[in-house]
Amino acid sequence: MELLDFVHLIKPIVLTDGYKSMKKYNHHGKKSTYYHSLKVAYLVYKHCLKKKRKYDTYEIVRGALLHDYYLYDWHNKGEGHRLHGFRHPKFSYKNAERDYGPLTKVERDIILHHMFPLVIFLPKTKQGYIVSYYDKVASFLDYFKK
Ligand SMILES: [Fe+2]
Ligand SMILES: [Fe+2]
Repeated sequence: MELLDFVHLIKPIVLTDGYKSMKKYNHHGKKSTYYHSLKVAYLVYKHCLKKKRKYDTYEIVRGALLHDYYLYDWHNKGEGHRLHGFRHPKFSYKNAERDYGPLTKVERDIILHHMFPLVIFLPKTKQGYIVSYYDKVASFLDYFKK
């Protein structure tokens, strides 16, 4: 049931062509940005269930789904992707606003500040910290779990 609810939440985004295009971009090792983003969204969703839905679950899951919606393979250098680590939150936000906007303030914060502490700008919302935390957990699992 839990998984079905999650699928219901993410369907409006993950079934779009733009979102599906992330399957072709390598993110961490051999894991795609699509795979990584779904994992972060699911971890965040499970967190919300545990905390008895203290936050707007749809909003935080949407932010998690879109946090890496930058739409390129950052391994391909020389295509204007220099300093990817610092710049991709802004690219992701612009793309997300264009394709799934208008985004809420919380969704915007989640996307723009998920690279904290690499970027010095702190998240302004608790949801921003939560997604930033689970992004790190998922990234670790991407690299080290088969
Ligand atoms: Fe990212
Ligand atoms: Fe990420």
